[in-house]
Amino acid sequence: NVNIVKNICCLGAGYVGGPTMAVLASKCPNIKVTVVDIDLNKIAAWNNQNLDKLPVFEPGLDKIISKVRGKNLFFSNDIEKSIKDSELVFISVNTPTKIKGFGAFYASDLKWVESSARQVAKYASGHTIVVEKSTVPVKTAELIKKILKSSNSSNKKKENSFSVLSSPEFLAEGSAINDLINPDRVLIGGDNEESIKKLCAIYENWIPKEKILVTNIWSSELSKLTANAFLAQRISSINSIAAICEKTGAEIKEVSAAIGSDTRIGNKFLLSSPGFGGSCFQKDILNLVYLSRYYGLDHVAKYWENVISLNNWQKERISEVIVDKLFGTITGKKIVLLGFSFKANTNDTRESPSIDIAKNLLENGAKLVINDPRVSNKQIELALNQPSKEIDHNVEGIWYYEEDILEAVKSADAIVILTEWQEYKNLNWELISKSMRKPSWVFDTRGIINRREIDVTPINLWTLGKG
Ligand code: NAD
Ligand code: UGA
Repeated sequence: NVNIVKNICCLGAGYVGGPTMAVLASKCPNIKVTVVDIDLNKIAAWNNQNLDKLPVFEPGLDKIISKVRGKNLFFSNDIEKSIKDSELVFISVNTPTKIKGFGAFYASDLKWVESSARQVAKYASGHTIVVEKSTVPVKTAELIKKILKSSNSSNKKKENSFSVLSSPEFLAEGSAINDLINPDRVLIGGDNEESIKKLCAIYENWIPKEKILVTNIWSSELSKLTANAFLAQRISSINSIAAICEKTGAEIKEVSAAIGSDTRIGNKFLLSSPGFGGSCFQKDILNLVYLSRYYGLDHVAKYWENVISLNNWQKERISEVIVDKLFGTITGKKIVLLGFSFKANTNDTRESPSIDIAKNLLENGAKLVINDPRVSNKQIELALNQPSKEIDHNVEGIWYYEEDILEAVKSADAIVILTEWQEYKNLNWELISKSMRKPSWVFDTRGIINRREIDVTPINLWTLGKG
């Protein structure tokens, strides 16, 4: 059957490449899937027999890996052989915001996508379908096509051919496995019918046909940026209303429920928070802003840029509330931060609002104690760009990691809940209150604490979107 692909390679073994290929391999036992990466340590970690040491934490991922790894899923350093042996190559590499040069702080840095295309151009044999899975600016497929084409003209002996498709990924971290197994839709953009059929046939192993949408390649690329921009826009919208709630006596949860029950609005993505984090929302909106400016659409650029500016303000404003409630100064005060990942059920801290809030508090002289069930001390050191240091009474603006929450809160002035981990939902507030310094404060930026449990203690509670 011409529609059957037997060997797949994925470039990039990160948060997308790893889980996506694990699910694909488990649903397509007849396809051999090889995931490669330029980061050899990452490949070693994916091959670790101790499943707690996988580079990505996702509920359910370890089970799938233990089922398929070594059977039809392989993590390998041999990029050349893996590409050569594959009829289809997913590009699933990082596309972060550029930090220097033209377009700095807006445009996506495509150097990893370009290097991926060059690797495919160099090593591919026969006809190879190249699928963009990374999130990329509209028109990136053109760049990939040009690189693949030029390799052919420079190497006359090879009789290679390529087709390029776009198939962006919509999984969310923390629920990646479920999102991959039961996606709302899968998107394929392209113009080569045969290649589209082949990619459809892979997805059809577990995804109902009607959920596989086929568009032109530019629509597919743009839909990915648009989906993230719309999702992030809802968060900035609800966070802006949370600020009005705090001034007026309205409650954000009630407002969310009231508007969310209008089916035209829908009830998802209406949780107010310390701001959206994660590696993609900000990056993808900045990318959209950059594209809009590039095409002379300044009003469009400004519209989307405001979603980010509201998000930045949210983090700033929460830091200010904390300082304000603690009598206008936090110098030398012990503040416990609960949660460092950008959302629950992931070990990812990229663009986590906890980073900005922690930095603000450190700048104001606080002594922070940070806890997170999945994020390590080392990861926090990297994110804050500051080593951890045991509390020293003479030094301000320091932090350390504490695994034991009851230990962390001893003589603390405040606790700030930043991530909605299950572990933080049922804390023993009576016990905690006894060991905190008075007056003690709890700042709940996720609205996960039961107010009645706090009300029986001397703790002062501030809840986002309620006051
Ligand atoms: P990541 O940083 O976790 O992983 C990318 C990996 O690609 C890295 O390990 C890197 O070493 C590797 N790499 C870079 N260049 C390479 C090359 N030439 N050959 C082989 N490997 C190479 O990134 P991620 O979070 O997995 O995101 C990947 C892409 O998917 C991004 O474009 C992102 O926007 C998009 N995306 C991410 C998510 C998410 O939840 N994280 C969801 C949907 C889409
Ligand atoms: C998001 C999208 O949901 C995915 O569809 C997309 O594939 C992915 O980005 C991507 O392109 O990387 P992710 O960032 O992993 O997924 O997680 P989300 O659940 O979207 O949460 C993002 C941030 O928004 C988190 O900080 C979360 O706490 C926050 N959020 C989410 C809210 O503040 N309120 C909500 O109601 C929902």
